[in-house]
Amino acid sequence: YRRLRVALLGAGSVGSQVADLLLRHGDELADRAGASLELAGIAVRDVDASRDVDLPRELFTTDAETLIVGSDIVIELMGGLEPAQTYLLQAINSGADVVTANKALLATHGPEIFDAADQVGASVYYEAAAAGAIPIIRPLRDSLAGDRVQRIMGIVNGTTNYILDRMDAEGAEFADVLADAQALGYAEADPTADVEGYDAAQKAAILASLAFHTSVPLDAVHREGITHIDKAMMDAARHAGFVIKLLAVCERLADADTAGESISVRVYPALVPREHPLASVHGANNAVFVQAEAAGDLMFYGAGAGGVQTASAVLGDVVSAARRHIAGGVGVGESTRANLPVVPIGHVVTRY
Ligand code: NDP
Ligand code: HSE
Repeated sequence: YRRLRVALLGAGSVGSQVADLLLRHGDELADRAGASLELAGIAVRDVDASRDVDLPRELFTTDAETLIVGSDIVIELMGGLEPAQTYLLQAINSGADVVTANKALLATHGPEIFDAADQVGASVYYEAAAAGAIPIIRPLRDSLAGDRVQRIMGIVNGTTNYILDRMDAEGAEFADVLADAQALGYAEADPTADVEGYDAAQKAAILASLAFHTSVPLDAVHREGITHIDKAMMDAARHAGFVIKLLAVCERLADADTAGESISVRVYPALVPREHPLASVHGANNAVFVQAEAAGDLMFYGAGAGGVQTASAVLGDVVSAARRHIAGGVGVGESTRANLPVVPIGHVVTRY
């Protein structure tokens, strides 16, 4: 097989598992990709930090810039806006295909990154940037490209679902279960992103942009978190036959006056009836319902967070990137931009 040089940026909850799977399943992945995936190095802040899995010490470096040079595929799993964006752009401009799980970066600077990739014919793969292990980016971008998506509704943050689920089931305290979610590798480096709904809003912006072939800016997403939800609220919801879930809802809206269309994208804690399928989403799992004009109702369910689960989605992207790379393919490209207006929250009627 032709050898492809793979650079990994980050070896935290997700990155360490990606490195481990790449090293242990190298032969199988080579057969699937049609190329040998050579892990050239792993860039981190501290080469001596303890890791979730044992990895060869000689792979680690603090010099991400040098590692990227000459790489065919760069996997960014550092998180945050900078230096992640600088490294991704360096990789793209040097001719690499890139794989990232960084929803914060894509929701904030996606257009610049996709434009940079288009200019040099590189591809950006980001299946892990929404709903962890669940395949949802490709279905929206590719499988449903011939349909008209009307609505997406679901749970897209594992940490908050884990917290709310344990508060509901055990009467656990918010702070205790948040610490557990962090220890289990579900939470963002700064868990404020999870509990204040920023992470879910970033994912909703990405999903809505793909589903509605438009560009949804993050500041157009209505966002509420769960930090104000306490035991009394959980108890009251339970006694009334509901469970509280942090939902993301993305809808295409018809404007009767102008015969035009707009969209609404919002994230907020909602009362979900206990008999609703979303009420049965436990732990760090996610579930995403998609309603499309021709396909009807589709449901995507599975692990929404977790290092090894997310590594599955990342490695799927790596195999895709390798196949494309050796075929000398053209960029995957993003959907055309319809530039639908995003309406404020007050204009929509919420229904479940
Ligand atoms: P972690 O915080 O666990 O790991 C981050 C890694 O990046 C660490 O190895 C860290 O190095 C390294 N790093 C951070 N900043 C720098 C820097 N400036 N220079 C070099 N290395 C750096 O993150 P996760 O693995 O949890 O998440 C990674 C990405 O995946 C994020 O974008 C996240 O949103 C996304 N994601 C995470 C999921 C999860 O369940 N955890 C699920 C889906 C997506 P060091 O170890 O030395 O500190
Ligand atoms: N912190 C995120 C979550 C990781 O809990 O859903 C997966 O994107």
